This record gives sequence, C-alpha cells and structure tokens, in this order.
Amino acid sequence: MTAKRLLTWTATLLALAAAEQPEAPSPVAAPMRDLPWGQLNFMQTTDTHGWHAGHLQEAQYSADWGDYISFAERMREKADGLGADVLLIDTGDRIEGNGLYDSTTPKGKYLYDIVKEQDIDVICTGNHELYQTDAADREYDATVPNFKGNYLASNLDYIKPKTGEQVPMAQRYRKFTTKNQGIRIVAFGFLFDFTGNANNTVVQPVEKTIKEKWFQDAIREDVDLFVVIGHVTLNGPEYKAIFKAIRSQKWDTPIQFFGGHSHIRNYAKYDSKAYGLQAGRYMETIGWMSIDGISGKGKKGDPKELASMSFKRRYIDNNLFGYYYHTGLNETTFSTEHGKNVSKQIHAARKAENLDELYGCAPKDLWLNRAPYPSNDSLVTWLETEVIPVIAVKEDRKDVPRLALTNTGAMRFDIFKGAFTRDTTYIVSPFVSKFLYIKEVPYKSAKQVLKIINSGGDVFAFSDLEASSLAPPEQIAIKSATIAPSTPNQNSYQAGSQSPLMSSSSTPDLIPGYTTKDAAGDDGDDTLHAPISFYPIPNVVQSAIAMPAEGDPEKVDLVFIDFIKPWVLLALRFAGQIYGEQDVETYTEETMTERMVDWIRENWKQDC
Ligand SMILES: *[C@@H]1O[C@H](CO)[C@@H](O)[C@H](O)[C@H]1NC(C)=O
Ligand SMILES: *[C@@H]1O[C@H](CO)[C@@H](O)[C@H](O)[C@H]1NC(C)=O
Ligand SMILES: *[C@@H]1O[C@H](CO)[C@@H](O)[C@H](O)[C@H]1NC(C)=O
Ligand SMILES: *[C@@H]1O[C@H](CO)[C@@H](O)[C@H](O)[C@H]1NC(C)=O
Repeated sequence: MTAKRLLTWTATLLALAAAEQPEAPSPVAAPMRDLPWGQLNFMQTTDTHGWHAGHLQEAQYSADWGDYISFAERMREKADGLGADVLLIDTGDRIEGNGLYDSTTPKGKYLYDIVKEQDIDVICTGNHELYQTDAADREYDATVPNFKGNYLASNLDYIKPKTGEQVPMAQRYRKFTTKNQGIRIVAFGFLFDFTGNANNTVVQPVEKTIKEKWFQDAIREDVDLFVVIGHVTLNGPEYKAIFKAIRSQKWDTPIQFFGGHSHIRNYAKYDSKAYGLQAGRYMETIGWMSIDGISGKGKKGDPKELASMSFKRRYIDNNLFGYYYHTGLNETTFSTEHGKNVSKQIHAARKAENLDELYGCAPKDLWLNRAPYPSNDSLVTWLETEVIPVIAVKEDRKDVPRLALTNTGAMRFDIFKGAFTRDTTYIVSPFVSKFLYIKEVPYKSAKQVLKIINSGGDVFAFSDLEASSLAPPEQIAIKSATIAPSTPNQNSYQAGSQSPLMSSSSTPDLIPGYTTKDAAGDDGDDTLHAPISFYPIPNVVQSAIAMPAEGDPEKVDLVFIDFIKPWVLLALRFAGQIYGEQDVETYTEETMTERMVDWIRENWKQDC
C-alpha cells in the first residue's frame, strides 16, 4: 500500500520532449518512485565507457552527459533551497566501449573535454583507463588536472615516460567540508587489485595500501563521514579490508562506499552506519544516495541524532522524463545553458566522427545475456556459428582444419534490429584484439582447451589468471544480484520516431528494464519495469572450421583472440602440450572488430 502511494505516474509529463541528442528517441513515461532526500545526497556514475551521448536506440536511457549536467545543476539548486548538499561521484571506466571514445585518433579526442564539464566532487580510475599505455598517459595528463583536487588515487601510481619516475597518479585522499551542512568528509579513491595494467602504472594491492602511514593517519582524522569511492565491487575483499581498517579506528563514524566494475546496480550494508552503492553501467543509471541524521559543522554528534541516522538509495534511469520528474521541472525550464552547450558539443563530436554512418542493417535483435546460449537470438551463437567461421581465415592456411576460440567478453553489448552504424561497432566490440594461432596442435589436446578454460577450475588456481574475467563483466556479479543488462524499449529502435505511450489504464504495460533486488529490498529503481531474464554465457566459445567431413583431424591450427593467449597456453599445458610465446604467430593482421564489420557490410546489406 505504501509502495503504491510512492508511485507517481508521469503521464502528465508526456509532452513532446525529445532528448538533447537529436538522434535520440524520445524518453517514455513510466510509473516512478520519488528520490529520498537527506542532509547529504550523492549522485553517482560508474562504468560509463564512453556512452556520454546516451543510448540512441533505447528511449529509457536516452539522456546525454549534457542532460546529466543540467540535472546535477538543478538538483544542486534544489539542495541549496533545502539547505542540503549534493555531491557527485564517478568511479572510473569512463573510456572504451563507444564510438565517442574509440573511433577517434587519438582515442578520446573529444571525450575528455566532454567529461570534464561535469562538476564531479570525487572521481577515480577504473581498470579500463590502464590497459593501454596511451590511455593511462591521457588520464594523467588530462583527467587528473581536469578534476584537480577531486581526482583521487589511493592505490595507484603513474610512471612518467621521460624520467621513469614513479609518482602517485593523483592525490591519495581528500579532506573537505560540504557547502550547506558543513559535513566534514575524508574521501578515498581506490582501484580493485587489478593486474592487467600496462607497465606505465603501478596498482598497489589494497591490503598493502591500508597499512601505509598516510592511510592510517587519514582514518584517524576527526570527521563526520568517510567516503570511500572505488572501481571496486561492493562485496569484494578490497572493501571488506577497508571497512575493517576504518572500523578498527572509528567504531562509529559513518562510512559511505561507492563501487563499480561489475556493471550492475547494487547496494551493500557493512554495518548500521556503513553502506555501499553501485550505479550500473553505460550511462543507463545515475545512482542516488541520501544520508540523514549526520552530524555536521564539526559538532560532536548528539547520540540521539546519530541513532536515527538513515541511508537510502535509488537507481535513476538516465532519461529526461525522470530528470523532469525528480526536479519538478519541464521541457522549457529544465535544461541549463551549460548542459545544452555540452549536448551540442557531443553532437558536434559525433558528427565530426561520422558515427551514424550506416554499415548494415541487423535483421533482428541479438542478445548478449537476454537470450539463452546457444539459441538463434544469442549474439554469442551468431558470432560463433556465422561470423567467426568466415572471419577467422588466413589466406595461405584457409583449408587447414582449425579451432577458433573467442572470449565472450570481447562482445560488450546487444545488437538491436535495424541500423548497424560505425558507432554500433564500437559499442558491440570496442577492442583491438587480433587473431593469433599455434600451428598444427594435436587435435586431442586442442579440443580440450575450450572445456578447460570454461570450467575455470584448478588449472588457473595457482596463476593470477581469472577465467571468469574472459566473460562480460556483468557475469562477475551474477550470483550476488539480479541483473537486467540491457533494457531496450521494443518499439523505439527507430531513432527519432515517436515513442509508444503506455496504456491509459491503471495497470499499464511496463517497459522491460531493471528490476533490481539488492540488500535493501526491491524498491531501489526509480522507474518501474517489467523484468528481463539474464542468461549466463560461457567464458570462451569455439568455432570448428574446415574440419574433415568424417572423423577427427590429427592436427589443427589453434586460432584464438590475442587477449586469451595466457589462458590458452596454460590450458594446453594442462592438456599435455607445452607451448611457449615463440610458438604463437599472428593469424590476422586486422582486428576481429574490423573483420566483423566486413562481415556485416557483406551479409547485412539490406536497407533498413
Ligand atoms: C614498458 O614496456 C615497453 C615495451 O613493452 C618498454 O619499451 C618500456 O620501456 C616499458 N616501460 C617501463 C616503464 O618499464
Ligand atoms: C513548464 O513550467 C512552466 C513553469 O511552471 C510553465 O509556465 C510552462 O507552461 C511549462 N511548460 C510546459 C511545456 O509544460
Ligand atoms: C555556452 O556556449 C556559448 C556559446 O559558445 C557561450 O557563449 C556560453 O558562455 C556558454 N555557456 C556556458 C554556461 O557554458
Ligand atoms: C535457428 O535458425 C536456423 C537457421 O536459420 C533454423 O534452421 C532453426 O530452425 C532456428 N531455430 C529456432 C529454434 O528458431
């Protein structure tokens, strides 16, 4: 009953608003839950992966970074009116995964200038900022100064290219006091214990960092709140260790964690005054966290006041209807000049890079996790059975029987029926992986590699190779949360078309989307959705190509995506074949993505 009262139907907002990106579909109305406000409120983005233009094929996530800037500015105005505070958080992986970042030379030519326009109070690094040397350089040279004072790197160092000097990527922590409530905060910015970084950065394990003097001093500071942000999953060992370390000094000071990396909406309770929020991925979600009953202005907390502390969370679908709803504004009053400017900046960048250039027309939806594997609606099945056999070809060995292995994490997003553009390419497959191969591997060993990597068991236990990291990151969390990876509005694929309206009855058809269950229950989403199924996919899939019509070949070429080389070598060893780096050769000069585009141009020629 209470839940019913909390829901407000936004049908009245169904004016003719379109998202700021002209190509974006109009957002659709849906039943809404209000945002709980407290003395201190946070808005979080994480794992945006270059989706700063918003989702141009999904109405419910169609707001762009400029719209988010307007939203933040309006919420701060509202907070000023209430005497409350709003702080903005971003927990990394801002790059890789969308044409806006990946299509340009150098990568991120426009992205850094777009991201910096948002006024973020605490920001940190994700693993994706560190895979490539040049990306880490840009992070140090652009993003860190763009967010000077707010960019934190508690366990990350950078190696200067000219001098070889190892320096902190950014300052280790930040102490500040909020504007309206005078809440004194010490904030940290962590990265999980990541080992796949390029050699110009050094990630220090969290367990080691928390023993350092600066950290031990920082957690002894007399503050009202610790804010720990990180590109770290909420339930991982890193946050457990940090929580324990802070509690060993401050048994009662509230702690607010913000997490990332596993691409889910999630919430965690560490104790009655320590909570964690994680805001999903790809600009689908703005996380909202409110804390009330906190003692500000350096006052010693009144115990009664502290006893009534409350922590509340919401996951905001990133679209204009929600933004209007939560600000109480409308199409004419919502956007700020600054927000509009940034939307224009994004539009100009997309145009300059020709991101809407049509490569082909997908005949149907192909789902990464929304359809079972194997099945005809599975993106992974499509890749394995239709694409790889055609693109994993080396001209002078095209008749040699071969097994081609691809990790499913090489695919990042669904393909929607309709236009497949230059932008879609980077969204679906942003990586620069090429095919490698080992010649003439005995078939009886080669054929075991798939099974060994997918079982992910003992073989990898004593290496630092995590087989699950070969699948899309959403699967890391599959056991700990309900996930709705992508939630397109079935009727909104045609960019710019008028979106469907919900029925006028009181039990409308809900749009499929996030139906999050987390540590605080099932009322976290700001928008009510119909649920979507999540089907797990294997870490690696295999295409058998040019195999003899009958019987097994004696030897095969073992072809694989370069990313999985260490796993393949280890699995082969387990299967009784010792191969080393020297046995691995280049199979294709082009990247898998380039070859996939060739396939699409050839096979999906029809007009949309
Ligand atoms: C990093 O590796 C590259 C080549 O792999 C090498 O040229 C460079 O010197 C290394 N840099 C550092 C700081 O070790
Ligand atoms: C938006 O709100 C303003 C102020 O409340 C009002 O004057 C205006 O008519 C509204 N515009 C629309 C399109 O609803
Ligand atoms: C928006 O852009 C215009 C034109 O470039 C500029 O004059 C103005 O200062 C910008 N406003 C804001 C708030 O960024
Ligand atoms: C899947 O596609 C194949 C080839 O187009 C077809 O033969 C088969 O019937 C389809 N299976 C299902 C379950 O639709």
